[in-house]
Amino acid sequence: MSLPASHPDIDSHQHKGKTCPVTGKGHEWCPPQDGDSRSPCPALNTLANHGYLSRDGRNISVFDLIRGLKNGYGLSTPLAIVLAFGGFILLGRFTNLSLFEIGKHGAVEHDASLVHKDTPKGEEYAPIDVQEDLLEKLLADAKTGDEDSEGLEAGDRRTLMDATDVARARVRREKESPALDALHAEIARGEMGIILGVWETKVGRKVGIPVEWMRDWLRKERLPEGWKPTHAQGLLDVVKRSKAIRLAMVDLRKAEMPTDEKARL
Ligand code: HEM
Repeated sequence: MSLPASHPDIDSHQHKGKTCPVTGKGHEWCPPQDGDSRSPCPALNTLANHGYLSRDGRNISVFDLIRGLKNGYGLSTPLAIVLAFGGFILLGRFTNLSLFEIGKHGAVEHDASLVHKDTPKGEEYAPIDVQEDLLEKLLADAKTGDEDSEGLEAGDRRTLMDATDVARARVRREKESPALDALHAEIARGEMGIILGVWETKVGRKVGIPVEWMRDWLRKERLPEGWKPTHAQGLLDVVKRSKAIRLAMVDLRKAEMPTDEKARL
């Protein structure tokens, strides 16, 4: 597994707890090393890569998860508690677990992921490898702020991703996979709703999250350089954002319907 570009001359090493023998006790990014455990969740893998969860991704308690979500992403205590306990309950686990175990298919994990393949039939755990083609399609679905360069420095064409862009990607992926039940469809919208809130940025009159942050987060499982939480990300805000994604999905599906079907609605 490759090492961070900032430490090109250091051999692969072993992680134990939150300390990395290369980057130390802080929260510098270091990718997983041989034997480290990772999940299909970019958010949790990123926490481990920055030492907000144990860097080896093992022996994680529900309280470690709550602390990691609060310190790494600035989630409010109620939101962190709901996600961590909700996750453990769906997994049917009350003992510490590894990140890989979090990807148990059908618990929190679901089909129609944005950047992962569906879990192959007969497999108990979801694939953790990010699919480069799916990642590029997701980023291509982000169009906010792309239409004009209003408010941007000349040459700085920063594209943002907002709830409608996420809806476009979800509609596309849900057409390609077996239907999701209501709970997992909600989880899928919520996953992106959280990060839309955590990273929301304003560029001119456009609001969304920079696609370049999204690319590094999903591909390298890394926080944006120098980024620290700017606000406490609350539960109600995530609920509102998930609803915005759901409503935008309804609109997009309607727009794709043939005219005679639309007329029957
Ligand atoms: C800051 C909080 C979190 C954020 C922003 C977040 C975000 C995401 C995103 C965007 C995905 C989708 C990846 C894809 O579609 O390919 C995902 C997947 C997943 N997350 Fe998280 N997550 C968070 C916390 C959690 C927690 C607390 C758990 C469980 C305890 C969890 C478990 C999972 C699992 C199992 C998947 C795979 C779902 C799938 O099949 O796509 N996540 N997460």
